[in-house]
Amino acid sequence: MLEILRGENIKKSYRSGDTIQKVLNGVNVKFERGKLYCITGASGSGKSTLLYILSGLDMPDQGEIYFNDEKIYKKYSNDKAMSEFRRKNFAFIFQFFNLLPTLTVEENILLPLFLAKAVTKEKKKLMDELMEKMNIYDKRNKAVNLLSGGEQQRVSIARAMILDCPIIFADEPTGNLDHKNSLQIYSLLKQMTRDYNKTVISVTHDMEMTSMADVIFTLKDGILIKSLAERENKNNYN
Ligand SMILES: Nc1ncnc2c1ncn2[C@@H]1O[C@H](COP(=O)(O)OP(=O)(O)OP(=O)(O)O)[C@@H](O)[C@H]1O
Ligand SMILES: [Mg+2]
Repeated sequence: MLEILRGENIKKSYRSGDTIQKVLNGVNVKFERGKLYCITGASGSGKSTLLYILSGLDMPDQGEIYFNDEKIYKKYSNDKAMSEFRRKNFAFIFQFFNLLPTLTVEENILLPLFLAKAVTKEKKKLMDELMEKMNIYDKRNKAVNLLSGGEQQRVSIARAMILDCPIIFADEPTGNLDHKNSLQIYSLLKQMTRDYNKTVISVTHDMEMTSMADVIFTLKDGILIKSLAERENKNNYN
């Protein structure tokens, strides 16, 4: 089965004072293994809210999230079980990289494995391979605060990829980078879906970045609409 994650009829509102703001109004969405998904939409349209709900960080008011066809909020009903489930299956890439500034590139990439006492020879080999692909191998013993923004984000991608998690969530991973670096990051994310069969679900408000996606979703008026990916469009019309 290709499908790995599915959201059905997801609804979420926020109350402030007497007013209720409906942010998600019945989102239906499916994600498959080994693909890069971009979720786009205007500022305030609910992209981050949707990502938090899909990744088990926040609960919907209504609706269900299925991981490999199992209802996650039902199966992992307490906080401890849910965070254990997330740790095993979901990795995250953030806008501000979330690296430890004084640790080296290698130390940052290995940190989650080190904390889980899961550093092995195989993982170190994979780390070298990832650093090569990310073009940061030469910087491996440098403290990350001496790296450029683009390099730092490549470190955090390597840190996400070294885990066994099948899904990587990213919220505006290039929000802090210039255009050239942003395109490079998305191109690497795409490569990672191909090389390691990972599913990447990334939020971006930059339409140009979506050209790298296999599938593009747009969030508008609380509903998610699927667009054909650029690549598929081109194949259709060339
Ligand atoms: N915890 C919260 N309490 C109240 N309102 C919230 C909360 N989180 C989000 N909102 C509101 O929900 C709406 C959607 O927010 P969200 O952060 O999901 O938007 P977004 O599409 O990610 O925007 P951006 O592109 O600016 O990051 C916004 O109007 C926001 O003010
Ligand atoms: Mg956001």
